[in-house]
Amino acid sequence: MTPRDVSSRSARGATGESPRSLSEERSDETKRRTPSGRDVSSRSARSTTEAATATGKVWLVGAGPGDAGLITLKGLRALEAADVIVADRLGARGVLDGLAAEGIHLTADIVDVGKLPGHHAVPQDAINALLVQLAQDGKTVVRLKGGDPYVFGRGGEELHACQAAGIAVEVVPGITSAISVPAIAGIPLTHRGVATAFTIATAHDQIAALGGARDHTVVLLMGIGTLAHSAITLARGARGEDCPVAVIEDGYGPRQRVTVGTLATIAHQAAERGIRSPAVVVIGDVVRLSPYAPASFAILDLENFDPLAAPGGTTRKAPAL
Ligand SMILES: C[S@@+](CC[C@H](N)C(=O)[O-])C[C@H]1O[C@@H](n2cnc3c(N)ncnc32)[C@H](O)[C@@H]1O
Repeated sequence: MTPRDVSSRSARGATGESPRSLSEERSDETKRRTPSGRDVSSRSARSTTEAATATGKVWLVGAGPGDAGLITLKGLRALEAADVIVADRLGARGVLDGLAAEGIHLTADIVDVGKLPGHHAVPQDAINALLVQLAQDGKTVVRLKGGDPYVFGRGGEELHACQAAGIAVEVVPGITSAISVPAIAGIPLTHRGVATAFTIATAHDQIAALGGARDHTVVLLMGIGTLAHSAITLARGARGEDCPVAVIEDGYGPRQRVTVGTLATIAHQAAERGIRSPAVVVIGDVVRLSPYAPASFAILDLENFDPLAAPGGTTRKAPAL
């Protein structure tokens, strides 16, 4: 299904039930609420005591990378029980559309707070306020977030905002794009004899401080704008400029595409191919295991593969343990 804005749309309202169902009335109530969380409905006049007794609950649910099959069962159950779903565009909307395509019809109103072409995302403070307001109105709210709420997802801030307002809140972890998107390109982040550790980072200043060599996989999220800078920085370290790199765009989505190169070539390839966000960048020898890697990268003899072998064939001294 093509992504579309269904802000405050009631799934049940679309069935044309008549007379007006409770869910339609509930939908209208949500329509009167702005994305800033300000309640402009007549219910805003109700007493504090009434609001306190009717307080709902917020579920912070990880949607996974955008494939409806990759949300957890607990996450799905929370969606089914929700009055309102406050959804990101990345990952979350793909899951909602995918569930609908599978015949799973959710009855909740959906508020889209993600980026739309030509529009800015709803600011984080406004999302926090909206979650609190909806719960104070007695709603069961799912905040559906791409990947995992706690991996570069500002889930901690939303949790804190709800807790600070005395709202019951529960986190349902999701499958982060940092692991699942490489997987769909056939890249395990660790592999015995190839890589023993991985680091997930954004492509900002912390890259210069990253240790390890090419047997320590680096995964970059939000890394496309600064890819050239990151590649130069990492190439200067122990990984070297011929360290393999994969960029996976729009994992599990209609634009999914994998580009494989090295730290020396990847920025040029990205410019040439017009690589765009969202994308996950994987750096390290595990990239050689991908079926998308050129034959010259292939690890043919995994039994004897030496992740510490220098490009020229000599073996670097293993670090003392
Ligand atoms: C703000 S971070 C959120 C990460 C999210 N919490 C997670 O655990 O996956 C957004 C970044 O995640 C990555 N990302 C998320 N979904 C993706 C997908 N389906 N394909 C490629 N990259 C994705 C991109 O690097 C994107 O810029």
